[in-house]
Amino acid sequence: MKTGHFYRSVTALVYTQKLSHARAPLCGQSFNILPSAQNFTALFDKLRELFGEKKEEHIPLEDLSLMEVDIHSHLIPGIDDGSKNMDDTIYLLRQLESLGFRKIITSPHVVTDGYNNSTETILSGRDKVREAMVANGINLEFDAIAEYYLDETLSEKIEKRDLLTFGKNYVLVELSYLNKPNNAGDIFYQLQVAGYKIVLAHPERYPYYHENDFHNYHSLKDRNILLQINLMSLAGKYGKNAQAVAERLINERMVDFVGTDLHNAKQLETIRACLGQKYLDRVLRSEKLLNHTL
Ligand SMILES: [Fe+2]
Repeated sequence: MKTGHFYRSVTALVYTQKLSHARAPLCGQSFNILPSAQNFTALFDKLRELFGEKKEEHIPLEDLSLMEVDIHSHLIPGIDDGSKNMDDTIYLLRQLESLGFRKIITSPHVVTDGYNNSTETILSGRDKVREAMVANGINLEFDAIAEYYLDETLSEKIEKRDLLTFGKNYVLVELSYLNKPNNAGDIFYQLQVAGYKIVLAHPERYPYYHENDFHNYHSLKDRNILLQINLMSLAGKYGKNAQAVAERLINERMVDFVGTDLHNAKQLETIRACLGQKYLDRVLRSEKLLNHTL
């Protein structure tokens, strides 16, 4: 069986309601799969063994050097809900440097009714951070893009080709956490016709995508939308459902990018707590992950 088919088949099997509530004869014990991410992990690993996959050795990571590049954070001072001043920014960058990163591509929010940042404000903020990094001896590559909220003014920016991109013309886009946006399909299409490659920020955090047994995620991938999960999801920061979805995306090899989504010093504890997670190890060693290409 081809590897991709293996992962899709096993996860489909695991998530079958019948199997999830039955005594699974393969494992000799019953598993209540939903919504427990831990049970999912146990059963998934048993099935991997059964299908002849080599048992995965898990050694907790010491740092995040395997990730190399972070594409999602809020480190330009004072322009969104992230870092409040340059001292905060320098502290956070120093911590990221000690975690082993080679490059940070920070991504301030662009939200029309909230953080109405422009390309100019973001790039001028980036330049000031670069100067401060030199003055403070921080040895990281540093660049800035944006986390574009999908609203009506994004359409105007696409028309003007006024979007900050990274890598192969990638654009980072986020959606509402509350309601499935009606215009998502149209704006995604507009982005793609304009030649941009869409990277959807933290897809595991949108509850309306959790329904329909992963069909929504397969549909995003079928439309060539790349997926970026948050590291902190793996430590349960956004709840059990988001964690379970992030883990399933990893198991189905659907993750293209990982991001810290770092806003403040408190979150560093959560990011460090991820180092011991088997799923972090699994995603950072995935041949599908693109962070290192940037
Ligand atoms: Fe973010």
